[in-house]
Amino acid sequence: MSFTHLFSEGKLGDLDLPHRIIMAPLTRSRSSQPGDVPNDLNAEYYGQRASAALIISEATQISPQGKGYAFTPGIHSKEQIEGWKKVIEAVHAQDSLIFLQLWHVGRVSHSSLQPDNGLPVAPSAIAPEGQAFTYEGMLDFETPRALETNEIPDIVEQYRQAAVNAKQAGFDGVEIHAANGYLLEQFLKDGTNHRTDIYGGSIENRVRLTLEVTKVVTDVWGGDRVGIRISPTGTFNTMSESHPQSLYHYLIEQLNPFNLAYLHVVESFAGSTSNDFDFTALRKKFNGAYMANGGYTGELAEQSLANDKSDFVAFGTLYIANPDLPKRLHLGAQLNDADPDTFYGGDAKGYTDYPSLAG
Ligand code: PHB
Repeated sequence: MSFTHLFSEGKLGDLDLPHRIIMAPLTRSRSSQPGDVPNDLNAEYYGQRASAALIISEATQISPQGKGYAFTPGIHSKEQIEGWKKVIEAVHAQDSLIFLQLWHVGRVSHSSLQPDNGLPVAPSAIAPEGQAFTYEGMLDFETPRALETNEIPDIVEQYRQAAVNAKQAGFDGVEIHAANGYLLEQFLKDGTNHRTDIYGGSIENRVRLTLEVTKVVTDVWGGDRVGIRISPTGTFNTMSESHPQSLYHYLIEQLNPFNLAYLHVVESFAGSTSNDFDFTALRKKFNGAYMANGGYTGELAEQSLANDKSDFVAFGTLYIANPDLPKRLHLGAQLNDADPDTFYGGDAKGYTDYPSLAG
């Protein structure tokens, strides 16, 4: 297959991208401890992948409370901002671009990872199934503490400050993580949001926090440099929603006035998807670029772009194992296989040692 559409130039906000291949956000759990600080190895890893049209950083906690996994990086301390500068430098040295993904995990955490060993926070006191990845190994999720209404402004402030910090570090933009079962999605979806205040109940109320966050983040960056990631059909982290199409159509209508650069849609995740969601209808509603993600191969991505189902495609697993993914697709070269044993945590093995093509 000749990837004519994949290798055509594209506009993302005010940015001109050389092609349509995006590196998806990937949690790799290799920041320096203590302090969750990005390091030289992380800079090498991102630098190796700088031929992506745009790199979206791994999910990055906006505050100590936003952390849910051992070894993930943050963007709330001076040291972290300095650490990210090394990563950004490695990417910019090759004329590429990198957005930071802003992450608050909500209930997907554990008290051992939280400030003062407090309970993780969430819209409602409902525990996810399964276990948290802590420094003491895998531990059962606890029932989170429901946020008080008067605590919500502080959550919004955590996003605002993180957006400011990302700008200070020198990122090219930010992506608001409203997908995959983390805090914003916990508010959006009715399986996790049983609140009776202005942040729960109706769709209008459940969408409120995501819109408040989008407002402060675009105030810092301008809509052109902000994307948002959603997973309407996602069930990862014990998520559920009764009326996803109405919920997400309303969300998109309310997001449009912010003139965001892109909508990043996790169409399937870890094999889970749904046939009764109309992603094309969602795309039609949105006034910026549509970035598709979830199990795409080069061929599927080319088809999606050719059929006007997306404007960009973000690749996750393929990017773990193929630092030079655009070149390999362009040449029709063989792809390296990813090793799941080294996805989370560890050192250079399975991180920076996947080979690029020679020459
Ligand atoms: C994960 O660590 O498994 C993870 C993190 C962020 C996501 C999805 C999965 O959006």
